[in-house]
Amino acid sequence: MYTREEIEKRIEKLGEEQPWNHKIELPYGIQTVESKQISHGKNTIKWSRVEGYINQIDVKDKRVLDVGCNEGFFSMKLEKLGAKEVVGLDADEFRIKKAKYVSEVLGTSNISYEVVDIFDKSIEKYGHFDFVLCLGFLHRVAYPYKAIQQLAKISDTILFEWKSLKEGNFDSSVMKFCGGVSKDSNKYSGLYWLPSVRCVADMLKASGFVHNLVIDDSAWRRAIIISSRVDNGVFKNKDLISINKFILLKKTTRSYLGSIFRTLRDDRIKWL
Ligand SMILES: C[S@@+](CC[C@H](N)C(=O)[O-])C[C@H]1O[C@@H](n2cnc3c(N)ncnc32)[C@H](O)[C@@H]1O
Repeated sequence: MYTREEIEKRIEKLGEEQPWNHKIELPYGIQTVESKQISHGKNTIKWSRVEGYINQIDVKDKRVLDVGCNEGFFSMKLEKLGAKEVVGLDADEFRIKKAKYVSEVLGTSNISYEVVDIFDKSIEKYGHFDFVLCLGFLHRVAYPYKAIQQLAKISDTILFEWKSLKEGNFDSSVMKFCGGVSKDSNKYSGLYWLPSVRCVADMLKASGFVHNLVIDDSAWRRAIIISSRVDNGVFKNKDLISINKFILLKKTTRSYLGSIFRTLRDDRIKWL
C-alpha cells in the first residue's frame, strides 16, 4: 500500500519525464491530470462515446488488446468490464512506464503493458485477440492501411475511433495529409492523415473486414467504426443500426447542402 505522499511524488516525477495525458483517478482523490476534459479526443469523454458499443461487443472472459494504449486508462476499463486478459501496447516507453505505475497503484491483475511498435514484423507473437480497441490511433500513424493490416493479422473484431475528415465522409474515400507534426508531448503522436469514414471502411474491407458498423460523431469530426470479419451480435442490434442510419442521413444531407452553398458563394465561379 502506498501513502498519499508517495503517490503524489511519483506522479509528479513521471509527469516531469513526460506530461500526463490520460486523466486517471488514483487513491486519496489524486488525479494524474487535474484539468476538466471537454474535447471528444480526451480519455474520459472518449470512453463515454465508446462504452455502450463495447458493452454490446461484450469483452467478458475475452482476450483483448488496447493498441496505442497510452497511460492505460482504456486497458483498465476493459479489465473492469471482465476481460480475461488485457494487453496494452504502445511505442512510447514513457507512456508504458506511467501505465505500469498506475496499474501497480490500483492493483490491476490481468493487464500487461509492452513497448511495441504496431508495425513490428513479428506482431503475431502476441497471439490472437478476441477484440482490439484502437482509439485515437489511425490518424496518428504514417501508414494507416498498413496498421489495419497488422491488426488484421491478430484479430477478427476491432473498434476504431479516429479524427476524420469533416467533408465527404460517406460518399468519398479520401484522406487529407496533415504533415505528421505532433502537438502532443510524445513524438509518436504526429497528426498524419484525416481519413474519411468511407476511406477507413474501404481499407477495412480490403483487409477482410466485411462487417462494418459506422458510428459518426459528426459534430466533433471524430468517427467510430466497429469492424469484424464475423457477423457478431453487434451488427444485429436494431437500435445501433437505426441510430447509425439517422446519423448517416443527417451527415450526408448536411454535407451536400454545404457543398451547394459553398459553390453558390464561390467568387471564382462565373455563372453564365
Ligand atoms: C493520440 S494517442 C491515443 C492514445 C489512446 N488510445 C487514447 O485514445 O487516448 C496515440 C498513441 O499511439 C501511440 N503510437 C503511435 N504510433 C504507434 C505505433 N506505431 N505503434 C504503437 N503505438 C503507437 C502513441 O505513443 C500514443 O500513445
